[in-house]
Amino acid sequence: MSDLLETLRTAHDLTDSEILTFLREPQPEQELFAAADAERRKWYGDAVFLRGLIEFTNYCKNNCYYCGIRAGNSHAERYRLTNEQILDCCKEGYALGYRTFVLQGGEDPYYTDDKICELVSAIAVQHPDCRITLSIGEKPCGSYQRYYDAGARRYLLRHETASPEHYRMLHPESMSLENRKRCLYDLKAIGYQVGSGFMIGSPYQTPENLLADIRFLQELQPAMIGVGPYITHTETPFADQPSGDLHLSLKIIALLRLLFPKALIPATTAFGSMHPQGRELALKAGGNVMMPNLSPTAVRKLYDLYENKICTGEEATQCKGCLERRIQSAGYRIVSDVGDSLVKNV
Ligand code: 5AD
Ligand code: FES
Repeated sequence: MSDLLETLRTAHDLTDSEILTFLREPQPEQELFAAADAERRKWYGDAVFLRGLIEFTNYCKNNCYYCGIRAGNSHAERYRLTNEQILDCCKEGYALGYRTFVLQGGEDPYYTDDKICELVSAIAVQHPDCRITLSIGEKPCGSYQRYYDAGARRYLLRHETASPEHYRMLHPESMSLENRKRCLYDLKAIGYQVGSGFMIGSPYQTPENLLADIRFLQELQPAMIGVGPYITHTETPFADQPSGDLHLSLKIIALLRLLFPKALIPATTAFGSMHPQGRELALKAGGNVMMPNLSPTAVRKLYDLYENKICTGEEATQCKGCLERRIQSAGYRIVSDVGDSLVKNV
């Protein structure tokens, strides 16, 4: 075993220069993935937790340069689900065994705090044994508190990149890394289980940027870390930029598992969209969560963050069956419970 891997396995940390070497130079992949898998099994065994994802609006006021549902994409066909449709998705998901629902959307001003609270309360009343996760972007602290009081307990907000100069290259002037970090710390202080993360291979990203991402996550200590390869979308200013690399992305999943042994790490849809077995590979590299789509099939294609997104034609039951087979074939087992992170909010 290489010295680097041995240090990573035993100390769960590396120096800055070691992390840069790890990222820049080829690593013995099988050994790396085996070490990450052993670490994951130590804490979570062979469990894979499922989160039912409901993409309830693709309206967005932001204009992130990488994202297909950015406000500036006039070709995007916009939709919003009604509360009734969202509750139906939860009902269907519940019957399939899902005990966590993730309400994800663009930053859509139509959804006032009152509307979000009404929705969260309605789900909480119908499914008291489930966790409600929100992923609706940057808000004032008071809004996050209201959603929490209404029953939301988890929040996903990727920091996207922890380097201010790189953040500027990916986002317009109206957005700032400072506010994004403020949101993440507010969410933690309120008591949410927070998920953050970044894209791998986003335009202009350097190994130093990835190092900064890792150091930021070590400071934040999120319950969940979501990463995935950047995938080009033609209706964005980054249409000519290449997609991220699958191998680097898998290497980073393994690195994250060894640096954050107790974190929840999803095998994200972006992995599955890059490669037919991308999500299974991400599980074997240290991932332990999957987020199948529960949105009605009629709107799935419209939540078009990047090209060739998978699972846009399948019904919820088809995805469940498909995932069961995939998770089993990778050597793991679906667990039907809320799947709390072992990282506690301190
Ligand atoms: N490729 C990969 N991931 C993307 N996201 C947005 N656009 C893309 C893209 N083109 C990710 C962002 C966001 C999450 C919901 O999807 O990291 O936080
Ligand atoms: Fe959706 Fe495989 S998980 S079709």
